[in-house]
This record gives sequence, C-alpha cells and structure tokens, in this order.
Amino acid sequence: MTELLEKAKNALKHAENVTALTGAGVSAESGVPTFRGSGGMWKNFRPEQLAAPEAFKKDPVLVWEWYNWRRELIASKKPNSGHYALADMEKYKRFTLITQNVDGLHHLAGGKNILELHGSIWKVRCTRCGTTKIDRSSVLTVPPRCSKCNGLLRPDVVWFGESLDMRILDKSIDAALSADVFLVAGTSGVVQPAASLARYAKGSGAFVIEVNMEKTPISIEADVTLIGKAGEILPMLQDGWIEGR
Ligand code: OAD
Repeated sequence: MTELLEKAKNALKHAENVTALTGAGVSAESGVPTFRGSGGMWKNFRPEQLAAPEAFKKDPVLVWEWYNWRRELIASKKPNSGHYALADMEKYKRFTLITQNVDGLHHLAGGKNILELHGSIWKVRCTRCGTTKIDRSSVLTVPPRCSKCNGLLRPDVVWFGESLDMRILDKSIDAALSADVFLVAGTSGVVQPAASLARYAKGSGAFVIEVNMEKTPISIEADVTLIGKAGEILPMLQDGWIEGR
C-alpha cells in the first residue's frame, strides 16, 4: 500500500491537469447510503419503481415521497475529509471534478469546477415548460408544481433509461481526454457512460488512480488501485499535489 500510495502521489505531484470522477462511496462516510453493496439503497428499493420516468408517470407522489426522504437525509449530512481534499486540489492544479452524486456535498466542501453528470437532488424541472430551478428546501409539498405554468415538477436528476445532458457529458469526456492524472473514487464503475471515462483517460495517456473499498471493473484500467476509505486515502494523496505546486 505504501509503495502504491507513493506512486499515486508522485503522479499527482507532476500532473498539470487532473480530472476526478466520484461516486456514492465518497459520500458514504458522510452518512449518505450508496446504491449497491451491503447497506446500498437498491437492496431496499427497486430502481425501476422509483428512479425511472415510467415510475414518475405512474405515481409521481410515491416518487416525490422517496425524493423527499432522500432530500431530508442529505440535508442533515456534511461533507467529509474526502470531499474537502478534492476541493483543495483546485488551488494547485487545473482540476475538473466529475461526479455521479446528486447530493451537492462537493459544492458544500467548496468545490467550484464540478460537472454533475447525473444532475442534482437540489434542482427541480418542470415537466411542462422545462424551467429548472434550485430548491434547497429539505422537504417539498408533494407533488410540487411549477410557479410559472403550474406543470408538475420533477427532480432534475437522470433516471434509468434517460439520456445524460449532452453538454455536461461532452465536457466530462473532454476533461477525461485532457487529464494527466485521472482519479476515480468511490464508484462501482458499472453505470455507463461514467464508467467508461477512466478508459478514455487511460487511452489518451493519463495515469489512472482508483480509490475504493474493493476492486471494481475500473481496476483493470487503473495504474494504481488504493483499497480503503475515500475519506482517509484522498487526504493522504493531498501531499502529492501540494508538493507539486
Ligand atoms: P455504487 O453504490 O454503485 O457504488 C459505490 C462504490 O463505493 C462501491 O464500489 C463501494 O465499494 C465504494 N465505497 C463504499 N464506501 C466507500 C468509501 N468509504 N470509500 C471509498 N469507496 C467506497 O455507487 P455509484 O458507483 O456512484 O445513478 O453508482 C453509480 C450510479 O448508479 C449512481 O449515480 C446512480 C446509481 O443508480 C443514477 O441514479 C442515474
């Protein structure tokens, strides 16, 4: 582990351009449940019954009740040392943070250049007029309505079977292709297209560092896989980018 950690720190030290991809594991130590694995949300809930456009069409109240539950839970959580370490990187490197997380904890930690690939739980979108707005109330009156046209509002997140926002995806691919170091933390690497970003980065010459509690399909692309908690390992890597300033 020490040798791998040193290798990763050295790559970060010499990198000019760093891109990170994060997943639910980065927020696990803040108390936000992951999707898969023991204690993961998809053990208790069926994605297609809650996080799918068909589910919303069939029962918007049920879907909104689930989102209210998640909003209330996330509102009570704070960023952890992993989020803060990544936010610190912006001071030293050209840095893009791509996240699959919708919880907003990277922003709360002070991160600025963030691409929210799967949207944000704190944004709502009108299903009639398309207006989007930020609404940070922990619980919304169910089902919420658009103040402009009275249309039904939905969470501005990407559901199963939906396409990602192409502008955000294009920026994410550009950031992966231009990175000297691609740092992947806390994702199972099974949901596309996010899972392919490490391969794009690797293909264009990036050094790929993975931080996870276990090996994942991304480990094949990784030059270094550091097994452990993101909240412990990311701060350990911090010396690397601070030394390289
Ligand atoms: P997952 O729940 O699939 O995976 C979480 C990953 O984090 C696993 O590989 C864990 O081993 C790892 N992990 C858990 N705790 C950790 C810790 N403290 N430190 C480091 N790693 C840890 O979450 P995602 O990969 O983010 O999509 O899931 C991807 C997408 O699937 C989500 O964005 C969501 C979901 O369906 C949508 O809702 C569109």
